[in-house]
Amino acid sequence: MSPIPKTAPFAEEEIDLLNRVVGTASPVQRAWLAGFLAGLDASGATVMPHPATPARPAEPLTIVYASESGNSEKLAGDLAKTARKNGLRPTVIDMADLELSALASAKRLVVIAATWGEGEPPARAMRAYNELMSGGAPRLEGVEFGVLALGDTAYAEFCAIGRTIDERLAALGGKRVVDRVDCDLDFAEPAARWIGDAVKVLTPPNAGGRVIEVDFGAKPAALPSTDVVEAEIIEHVDLNSSRSDKETIHLALSFEGGAPAYEPGDSLDLYAENDPAYVDELLKIAGLAGDEKLRADFIKSRDVTTLSLKTVETYAASTGHQYVKALLADGQAKEWIAGRQLIDLIATFPIALDAEKLRALTRPLAPRAYSIASSRRDVGDEAHLLISAVRYDSHGRARKGVASNYVAERLKRGQHVRVKLKPNGHFALPAPDKDIIMVGPGTGVAPFRAFVQERRATKAPGRSWLFFGDRTFTHDFLYQLDWQDALKDGALTRMDVAFSRDTPEKVYVQHKLWQRRTDLIQWLDGGAYFYVCGDAKAMAKDVRAALVRAYADVKALSPEAAEQAVATLEREKRYLQDTY
Ligand SMILES: Cc1cc2nc3c(=O)[nH]c(=O)nc-3n(C[C@H](O)[C@H](O)[C@H](O)COP(=O)(O)OP(=O)(O)OC[C@H]3O[C@@H](n4cnc5c(N)ncnc54)[C@H](O)[C@@H]3O)c2cc1C
Ligand SMILES: Cc1cc2nc3c(=O)[nH]c(=O)nc-3n(C[C@H](O)[C@H](O)[C@H](O)COP(=O)(O)O)c2cc1C
Repeated sequence: MSPIPKTAPFAEEEIDLLNRVVGTASPVQRAWLAGFLAGLDASGATVMPHPATPARPAEPLTIVYASESGNSEKLAGDLAKTARKNGLRPTVIDMADLELSALASAKRLVVIAATWGEGEPPARAMRAYNELMSGGAPRLEGVEFGVLALGDTAYAEFCAIGRTIDERLAALGGKRVVDRVDCDLDFAEPAARWIGDAVKVLTPPNAGGRVIEVDFGAKPAALPSTDVVEAEIIEHVDLNSSRSDKETIHLALSFEGGAPAYEPGDSLDLYAENDPAYVDELLKIAGLAGDEKLRADFIKSRDVTTLSLKTVETYAASTGHQYVKALLADGQAKEWIAGRQLIDLIATFPIALDAEKLRALTRPLAPRAYSIASSRRDVGDEAHLLISAVRYDSHGRARKGVASNYVAERLKRGQHVRVKLKPNGHFALPAPDKDIIMVGPGTGVAPFRAFVQERRATKAPGRSWLFFGDRTFTHDFLYQLDWQDALKDGALTRMDVAFSRDTPEKVYVQHKLWQRRTDLIQWLDGGAYFYVCGDAKAMAKDVRAALVRAYADVKALSPEAAEQAVATLEREKRYLQDTY
């Protein structure tokens, strides 16, 4: 859509030129431009007229991103900026909104895709992804393309979605002009390099034309800061009872100089440290127990637990270990890795190692995301998190999640922790008068505490309905008192709970949705928004399936029509997920 109408007081070619810049600019860029021009007028400065050089029509570039937590989306924006500076005319499309005809009509196409779940597309990209993989996908002859894949080597299906899309675009007749790069969690550098190369290759020799340079370096005031900041822990409370087999910490953080400008639905990235006991054991097994420098580095900044195929390959190459080589050659390494960590590799296949070789087996320690469980309008300069300690046994060893146990076992009130705001505009509250249905079992309930606080603070007239579940009512009812208060004061209209271990037959949130299906569909027909947060592996899929069944039953629809009803909610962005 062109934002500058033909009626604007400019010549037609000037309107075209303006639309080429403003039409593809993000809201932030448009806001910057508006402010800049207003400032120019206010200062009385005049722009010197200069002889016009005929502008060549800029060549189009279609950029599609499939993103869940915003990394691919951010890179798509970076790519658009670079492309625009190179004289291209980028159009950025969230795969959630992609119509496949846009691919067929693209001359040049870049896809930046993250992989989620166990080798799945980001939730909101699922529909377009399935269409692309289906027999109905359009032919792409004449489309030049490149794919950048984002992922995490810790997952067996590393960058699977980027890889599959890359193969699919070629199979549909597209011409791969930039080779795919698969990025791990520390993607910043390889992604920036890939973007630079891709723009070079995709820019036709005649593209230069008249390039309008806009300096996007200065951060617009409208964007919240996503710098790493220090926070003080002012509350550290286990919300499970001492008789629960879970430990879920309510962590209240206080920020000197103001909390990051977060909104309900956003998360914080938390920078954790490794368990010194684990690091000591690892160094002992590797024969490097006395190396204090390596120990400090490992505790603070290296991922010393993840075991990936890449780690095993590096180990085989750097040590020449016969059995590890055989494991790889037999194609058994992927299976062997499952449920194991770096410490298992070295304990099972010991060999003389020096500090450098051991360090080369690790990658930088990545922060972990936690949904913010508070609203600034209620808690001021605080941010609350709800963190469940991950503990399990595998292959005869007790395992502990790095960040969650750093919080649960080693952080105390009065200490400090480093965090960074991770905005998520795709999981935000709707207009205050809209009804919301929130499905958040376990720690999935965290953002809904923020939603409810926000709706109370803003006196939102829309109704709010929460579905919560956990193991037992007595020991695992997270934020029970908050919900009771909210029901009393009206911030929460309705609440349904499912405690799976209180009854002989396990009851989960999806069962509660089914029980309440008549009211549920009535709310949705009235325009309610449906939010799901928490476990991606089973819960999110079961909840969606329950909603499809609810539509089929309440409205007497065929399974296909009921599926369409939920797909329509997704397209309308009234079915929103933040699952992990
Ligand atoms: C947007 C977003 C929001 C999130 N919000 C929250 C939140 O509000 N609260 C919260 O608690 N978490 C939340 N998480 C999850 C959180 O980021 C971490 O993934 C979680 O705390 C585990 O991190 P960790 O460092 O403790 O574990 P890690 O050291 O990362 O270990 C986790 C890994 O251990 C393995 N593992 C775990 N359990 C088992 C098992 N039973 N058997 C075998 N292997 C296993 C898996 O490989 C898993 O990936 C969120 C995640 C995202 C992406
Ligand atoms: C719950 C979860 C599941 C993931 N599953 C995979 C996976 O199967 N394969 C992979 O390569 N990366 C996986 N990742 C890593 C993401 O792809 C990676 O964090 C990426 O940078 C996210 O990009 P986005 O912010 O654009 O969604 C997973 C991450 C999370 C949190």
